[in-house]
Amino acid sequence: MCGIIGVASLRYNVASIIKSGLEKLEYRGYDSVGIASIASNTILIKKGKGKIHEVETRYGLSRVPGSIAVGHTRWATHGAPSDVNAHPHADCTGRVAVVHNGIIENYLELKEKLTNLGHVFKSETDTEVLAHLIEEFLKELKPFEAFRKAISMIRGSYAFAVLISNEPEKIFFARKDSPLVIGVGEGMNFIASDIPAFLEHTRRVIVVHDGELGYITPVEIYLENSKGERINYLERIIVVDWTPDMARKEGYPHFMIKEIHEQPRAIRDTIRGIDENYEKAVELMLDSEKIFVTAAGTSYHASLVFSLIMSKLAGKLVIPFISSEYLSYANSADENSLLIAVSQSGETIDTLMALREFKKRGARIIALSNIIGSAIPRESTLAIYTRAGPEIGVAATKTFTTQVTALTWLAINFSEKRGAINQIEAKSLYKVLRDIPEKTERIISMYEAWARSLGRDFANKNNAYYLGRGISLPIAMEGALKMKEIAYIHAEAYPAGESKHGPIALIEENFPVIFVSIEDRLERRLLGNIEEMKARGAYTIGVVPENSILISKLDNYVAMPRISEIFLPILSIIPLQLLAYYTAVSRGYDPDKPRNLAKTVTVE
Ligand code: AGP
Repeated sequence: MCGIIGVASLRYNVASIIKSGLEKLEYRGYDSVGIASIASNTILIKKGKGKIHEVETRYGLSRVPGSIAVGHTRWATHGAPSDVNAHPHADCTGRVAVVHNGIIENYLELKEKLTNLGHVFKSETDTEVLAHLIEEFLKELKPFEAFRKAISMIRGSYAFAVLISNEPEKIFFARKDSPLVIGVGEGMNFIASDIPAFLEHTRRVIVVHDGELGYITPVEIYLENSKGERINYLERIIVVDWTPDMARKEGYPHFMIKEIHEQPRAIRDTIRGIDENYEKAVELMLDSEKIFVTAAGTSYHASLVFSLIMSKLAGKLVIPFISSEYLSYANSADENSLLIAVSQSGETIDTLMALREFKKRGARIIALSNIIGSAIPRESTLAIYTRAGPEIGVAATKTFTTQVTALTWLAINFSEKRGAINQIEAKSLYKVLRDIPEKTERIISMYEAWARSLGRDFANKNNAYYLGRGISLPIAMEGALKMKEIAYIHAEAYPAGESKHGPIALIEENFPVIFVSIEDRLERRLLGNIEEMKARGAYTIGVVPENSILISKLDNYVAMPRISEIFLPILSIIPLQLLAYYTAVSRGYDPDKPRNLAKTVTVE
């Protein structure tokens, strides 16, 4: 997954705006970076392998002249990270420059045809074929027609931004399956993969939909649909309620720790944002025979929490599945089914494919996302949103706790409407929910020092187990994922009851085992698991309720408040987020840019 940005300005030099925008998109990929601009009707390209600050030092990205420019930060899919494979890519004549996020599936076939026509390719990337296709069509067509015809020959996923020096005031764009948004400014317009790239210049945003294409100039926006019909873009403008500060670190060393600390505000805003669409979502749930919930990664863990709470509170079976496994579940879906697709980015291709497969079978779809207008909400029957604000850190934190908040509200409201709980019980649960932001604040302030200290010990470990039972198991899974993805420790989550069926063989002196306990009814069984692990030399750590009987058996622990158990997942994950963060920092890693990872997986 890559980040692209284009800026068309009446002002002269936009390279510094491009570079700043790329820094906001670096979470989407950072193995190479580049910029192309048009100055005196000539395209200039500066690009190279490495992070933005490295390539800036080498080539002075921010000093490239020109008032129209495109930029790119790459997460390699075709062609290893290198100077020549960095975007932008040009045609043979140097009149076309392309930046791209996505995968061109038919690039080899196109590359062969173009090579036979005499085109000379410089890179191993799929993207370069678009530059040569446009060059080929420019022989007979005007720039926009050449661009449109070239796009019609591309199969795969793409968000393109293209410069053609014949029309030096335009940036051409097209979108299919990869996110693309337009920023509508004053005398300056933007095209980018994500809103934070231009948020400090404008909050007026147009989400480009699949199949749409067009161009921007400093003062004009042209948008048409896949049938070539012009779209009135004014009707598509939304004003996002994010502030530029949200896309900056604001004094924190990393976005991830900032976003962990933002969770009280994010949860509070999400609760405030529970609107009539949430009510409609519950109606759809009540009106459905089978309910499925699907997601990837962290969002899948939120989905598991939801499934367990629905069973516990409402006695309703909700079938959770990992979105890339959708073909194993789609056959059991029909017009009486409901699929809840959980995706903070709203762009995860696995979850999008699952949604499309269920829709084919007549199922209705509810999307839960953090990005208004993103692909998954757009293709759903109904969309509901968290209000976490932009999450720049690759590791999901505030989007997880806000997803669990939103899903817990759905479970409470569904249970009340279904008569599984009465109005008084529901009112009491809503009240606890409203107090969660303040409880979150307290957990962060109580346990950040604990996490920093334990993180130093964890930094010397290579393996760990995270064990849970019932509602605490998805939290163990989420805690283990955080530790894997930013501290690169092989942390494995298991149902605690499963540990005797094999995993306990790995235990040796000081092997760290983290136990997450939420449900009172399961505490005694966890006690047995702790004793088995300790008897074999494990170092046992607990995330447990206050005054838990487990505390006396643990080597280390953090205590959660004794509130209704369905809210403890939101609180219990926080010490584990902090622990993963401080372990990564103790190991000298950058938690915002974990190796091999991208924030959103938009390629299957
Ligand atoms: C979690 O820290 C990762 N960033 C990843 O597992 C992520 O949760 C997953 O890719 C799903 O993303 P989505 O919520 O945007 O669909």
